[in-house]
Amino acid sequence: MPIFRDQAAKLVHLSNHYDNRYPTALAERLCDLTGMAGVFFSTGGTEAVEGAIKLARLAAWDGGAGRKCAFVSLNGSYHGRTYGALSVTGQERYRQGFAPGLPDIRFVDRNDIAGLRAAMDNDVCGILIEPLQGEGGVWECTKEYLAEARRLADEHHALLIYDEIQSGLGRTGDWFSYEASGVRPDVLIVGKPLGGGLPLSAFLVTEELFGVFQLAQHGSTLGGSPLASRLGLEFLSFMESEGMLHRIHQTSQYMQQQLQKLVKDFPVARAVRGRGLLLGLEISQPGRPIAEAALQRGLLLNVTQGNIFRFLPPYILEPQHIDQAIGIFQELLTIASEAEKAACATTERA
Ligand SMILES: Cc1ncc(COP(=O)(O)O)c(C=O)c1O
Repeated sequence: MPIFRDQAAKLVHLSNHYDNRYPTALAERLCDLTGMAGVFFSTGGTEAVEGAIKLARLAAWDGGAGRKCAFVSLNGSYHGRTYGALSVTGQERYRQGFAPGLPDIRFVDRNDIAGLRAAMDNDVCGILIEPLQGEGGVWECTKEYLAEARRLADEHHALLIYDEIQSGLGRTGDWFSYEASGVRPDVLIVGKPLGGGLPLSAFLVTEELFGVFQLAQHGSTLGGSPLASRLGLEFLSFMESEGMLHRIHQTSQYMQQQLQKLVKDFPVARAVRGRGLLLGLEISQPGRPIAEAALQRGLLLNVTQGNIFRFLPPYILEPQHIDQAIGIFQELLTIASEAEKAACATTERA
């Protein structure tokens, strides 16, 4: 990429004690896109989650006397593998072996409004939500649930934090998955495609939170480097100049139609979920053997929660690629269906 080579030849890294036009311009672009007022750059997604956790704690800090340090987070969520992010990840299998995590993390079920209300009190400093859970199996939060989370956060002076590391920056065909609900967060965490393949993540904050971190209370040596930031700007320009959001919507429509056909034709294929190019296909048996067979045929598949294929294809995916993948799926689901039928027949005979 000429931009990569050009910037690499000029300046890759700069101490964050100094200003540089690319991180500044990228921060301004992100604020324009989201209506947020401040951006803190870091490297990986999990590091941005750590920053958001610290921010919520600090915003609620009253000098050490109080206990306003609890978080409400969702069962099935995934927020990363560093210590704080792991503590608020609602999947036991990731946390196992690392206990105890951060104290007073209250896990609630997605879309269970009564459960959310029951978990809230004035000790909570942050509600952390993936509006569209990816790793958890491609599940969306309802608009009503997000609206109640917003109301409860306001009532209890806690921050509403959205983790859109996986679902944001165009993945759903909108810039952010929460946009469909109209319910805005106080803190928005982004990552993955932001650096165009280089490590770059960020958490974005509202005007009220802009001054919470004082100098040196948080930092990242390599976060928001001139090189990664320039690629970030290029990524956002590409999304706009190529009409990528519209294209993602169209590609998604076609892909969902094809996946729905699989559900119609194969009893082992149970349901299609998701939006944009964050889609899931749930099947009635373990997905790993099918993923391994797909790999032999040149198709990379991701299985989450044991039986859900989670699709996060590149934004530039074309219908012909979808056709190719569906062809392989048809072949493998035929084999899987026959195996399931044979297993049922054996059980019935026994
Ligand atoms: C929703 C979500 N949060 C946090 C993370 C952690 O990001 P990273 O792997 O860049 O640290 C991920 C990564 O998959 C994610 O999907």
